[in-house]
Amino acid sequence: MALELEKGKPLSVPHGGNSREAVERFGAVLGRIIDFSSNVNPFPLPAAVQRALRSAFKRLNVYPDRESYGLKKILAERWGLPIHSIVVGNGSADLLYRAVYALRPKNGLIFQPSFGEYAKALSEVGVKIKVLRLDPVRGFSLPKGKGFERVGKGGVVFFCNPNNPTGCLTPKKVLEGVVRRLREKGAFLIMDEAFIDLAEEESLISQAAYEENLLVLRSLTKFYGLAGLRLGYAVGHPVLIRRIQEIGQPWPVNVLAQAAGEVLVGNETFRRKTCERWLREKEDLYRHLCQIPGIQPFPSSAPFFLVRLTEKGSVESLQRRLWKDRLLIRDLSGFPGLEEGHFRVAVRNRRENRLLVRSLKKALAEEES
Ligand SMILES: Cc1ncc(COP(=O)(O)O)c(C=O)c1O
Repeated sequence: MALELEKGKPLSVPHGGNSREAVERFGAVLGRIIDFSSNVNPFPLPAAVQRALRSAFKRLNVYPDRESYGLKKILAERWGLPIHSIVVGNGSADLLYRAVYALRPKNGLIFQPSFGEYAKALSEVGVKIKVLRLDPVRGFSLPKGKGFERVGKGGVVFFCNPNNPTGCLTPKKVLEGVVRRLREKGAFLIMDEAFIDLAEEESLISQAAYEENLLVLRSLTKFYGLAGLRLGYAVGHPVLIRRIQEIGQPWPVNVLAQAAGEVLVGNETFRRKTCERWLREKEDLYRHLCQIPGIQPFPSSAPFFLVRLTEKGSVESLQRRLWKDRLLIRDLSGFPGLEEGHFRVAVRNRRENRLLVRSLKKALAEEES
């Protein structure tokens, strides 16, 4: 079904990871909250990051490199890409907005359910947005055929792979065809790969530097656990990359974020071990979630699961019960493109995942009685 969002309508986008808001809603809990509502690397970062941050601390009184050149060089080597095809930003959300301002699209197309900032970024430049619904019966996968064709000439399509909050992964081969068809239409694709690290083989990053209608956004805050520091990058045609670089304030990325990124991105051992461990925990958590009566988790290629309540009861009351065990889940009630009764949980370490499973079982049994 295609809907149209009203031009210029202000949009507010709730996110996971807001434990302050949860404290206000549900009251104080003693001790640390285990946050399953935001999907950030739960494992310790290498000691080299702390050393790099301590060293960068001495440069707090120096303006950061405007282009994050050191980090760009490492990224260019890692991906075998020209350095001029990369721009670094204050998280990938920063680049998402700057890309829209750089492209000045004539219209927009988004899918729902998906990340809410696409609609907000497009609405900020005042364009009409078409919305395509992803079907839960088909596992929220991309509909075959015409979906992308609904964008007009000069328009921008946002697509998230794997998608947040569904975890659904679209194969690279399918997306290459989409890029081709959009090029013929004179439309542009912004591909958000914030959660692709566990399924790297489906990334479009290698071709993004050479396509005139494709920009790939990558986050360094999730897989590399830098949500509080903020870091991300985009890969695209050098002409567009230069425009994005020039948009916004001159120093978007601080010295601490640049220093952390430089030691993390080049660390292949950390990357490999994180992938192995996170994937192992993901499989384990999925198996356990599938065995809990009253919920249905959707298969996911990302380090989180979309979960549906199959019995009566509200996610709000489930969230409240889990909160007593200091666990925070992402309530997706009212999330555009999803029916009521959905929530999302991140994959954390084994001990925390087991706590979640136990607490969910208990809370759902209480809901029933
Ligand atoms: C799908 C998706 N893309 C992009 C972002 C922005 O990530 P960041 O700005 O932290 O890199 C998020 C954050 O939650 C997200 O879920």
